[in-house]
Amino acid sequence: MRKKIVAANWKMNLSLAEGKTLVEEIKAQLPALNENKLVVISSPFVHITQTAAQLNGVAHVYTGAQNCHQEASGAYTGEVSASMLNSAGVNYVILGHSERREYFGENSALLVKKMNQVMANGMKVIFCCGEPLEIRKAGTQNAYVQTQIEEALFGYTAEQMADITVAYEPIWAIGTGLTATSEEAQDMHAHIRSVLAGKFGAAVADNVSILYGGSCKPSNAAELFACKDVDGGLIGGAALKSTEFLGIIKAMSEA
Ligand code: PGA
Repeated sequence: MRKKIVAANWKMNLSLAEGKTLVEEIKAQLPALNENKLVVISSPFVHITQTAAQLNGVAHVYTGAQNCHQEASGAYTGEVSASMLNSAGVNYVILGHSERREYFGENSALLVKKMNQVMANGMKVIFCCGEPLEIRKAGTQNAYVQTQIEEALFGYTAEQMADITVAYEPIWAIGTGLTATSEEAQDMHAHIRSVLAGKFGAAVADNVSILYGGSCKPSNAAELFACKDVDGGLIGGAALKSTEFLGIIKAMSEA
């Protein structure tokens, strides 16, 4: 059975004290979760040991990171390796986010190296893909996202796909208040699953969780998560307030 996941992406927000309070508030009111209904909290690097300690012993809520370096270790001033993240208690690493692709020049070849590091260190990947507005306007979003998936994921084995969650995040919906309609999300998620099925087979594709990201909030989460191929969400802005994030977790837990 494929997992439903709501993953927070705090981005570059919150002081340590604010992060601590937010996690405590979330823990205090967690809706029912189980091994197939999970939450991931992806905080900035300096928060991770604190977040992991707070989540230690909290069933079905995992610690995430938002990036890692592509090399195992060495003279890379200012960088953080996958093994360091693992040693700090990280379970999931977000890679390929459109902000990293755009502002830090991350391309598919680099992302493959980073994913290799994450998986070699026993963690799971949340791989982000999604098209910019001009591609959506031109109606070529399916081909665009397919290329992102082919370049980054087609080198892996069916077995490795068990450690990869896909997040579809249309760039025009991230932080803009514009959300893909549930129909647009479902169409793309079904397309992504069929691309994965073409390469890895239907059984493997059926097990891959595909999350939606882009202005997901309590008011639209239930409708999005009711779509057949939408298995939860990657949440930015609405993950910074406990009431909103808890509302989204509730929608997933009841889907
Ligand atoms: P948003 O961000 O929820 O603020 O749109 C989502 C993301 O970028 O992961």
